[in-house]
Parts: sequence; C-alpha cells; structure tokens
Amino acid sequence: MRKLAGVAVAVMLAVAPAAAMAQTGGLAAIEARQANFKTIARTFKTINDELKGSRPSLDTLRAAAAELRAASQKIPGGFPAGSGPETGAKTEALAAIWTNRAGFTEAANRHIAAVDALDAAVKAGDMARIRSATDAVGPTCKNCHDQFRLKK
Ligand code: HEC
Repeated sequence: MRKLAGVAVAVMLAVAPAAAMAQTGGLAAIEARQANFKTIARTFKTINDELKGSRPSLDTLRAAAAELRAASQKIPGGFPAGSGPETGAKTEALAAIWTNRAGFTEAANRHIAAVDALDAAVKAGDMARIRSATDAVGPTCKNCHDQFRLKK
C-alpha cells in the first residue's frame, strides 16, 4: 500500500509540471495572438486614416500594408490546441475555432487573400485599386469575428 502511494505521488509529480507547461504554452499563445491582432488593427487603421487625407503617402501605405500582411499570415498559427477558453485565461477566442478548424482556416485564408490584394495594389501604386482593396479587407475581419470571436 505504502509502495503504491509512493508510485502515485511520483506519477503526480511527473505529470504536474507537464500540465503546468501546457498551461503556460497556452497562455503565451493567447498573449502573442492578441498582440498580433493589435498590430493588425493598428496597421489597418493607419491605412484607412491615410486614405482619408487629401494626399495619401504611398510610403506610409507601403510600410503599413507590409506589416499588416506579415501579421495576417500569423493568424492561422496563433491558435494551437490548449489555447482556447478552457485555459480560463482572458481570451475572446471561441471554442468553434478548434471544433470547426476548416471553417476557421477558410475565414483566415479569405482575410489573407484580401490583404495580399491590398499589398499588391499598394505596390502597384494605383490609388483607386488601393481604395477598393482596403474596403474589401474590413468584411473579412467581421466574417471571422462573427463566427469565432466572443461578442461583447
Ligand atoms: C480568421 C479569424 C480572424 C480574422 C480574419 C481577424 N480576426 Fe480579429 N480576432 C479574432 C479572434 C479569434 C480574436 C480573439 C483572440 C483572443 O482573445 O484570444 C480576435 C481579436 C481581435 C482584436 C482584439 C485583440 C486584443 O487586444 O485582445 C482586435 C483589435 C482584432 N481582432 C481586430 C481585427 C481586425 C482589424 C481584423 C481585420 C483587419 C481582424 N481582427 C481579423 C479572429 C480574427
């Protein structure tokens, strides 16, 4: 009996750090993706604000579009298993991301494609194209948020 109890304690000691590490990994992923979404929101706002001005700067648009594109491409990898609401952490990610992974990937890809088109328009320096490509990005944010982000 005493021996068995000793084994049980040893098993618990071995398992606990692994569970704690998984938890830490989940929390780190949540923080990283939230920071990434802040970058996405900031760069997209920079682009929209720039386009409202009388003489939009292509340099500003170019830098913001490149940063937005890099951040958008990180979205799919920002949701590893074990980083959902079950962590108890402060996250607006819905469990649907993990139960409907194909739908989430589709929503992310739709957004990435819109941002790619915007980046290409900026590189081409075509203002009319830049404006319509910018208008096409917003709905791809909403499409994903409607399905996969907690409503406040
Ligand atoms: C493929 C899905 C998807 C796309 C596309 C997407 N988002 Fe999100 N967004 C999320 C999810 C899920 C969260 C919640 C993340 C969390 O709390 O763990 C979020 C969170 C955010 C946040 C809050 C970040 C914080 O401070 O915690 C902002 C701001 C945001 N998104 C803006 C945007 C904007 C702007 C776009 C488009 C330019 C966009 N998102 C595109 C899924 C998406």
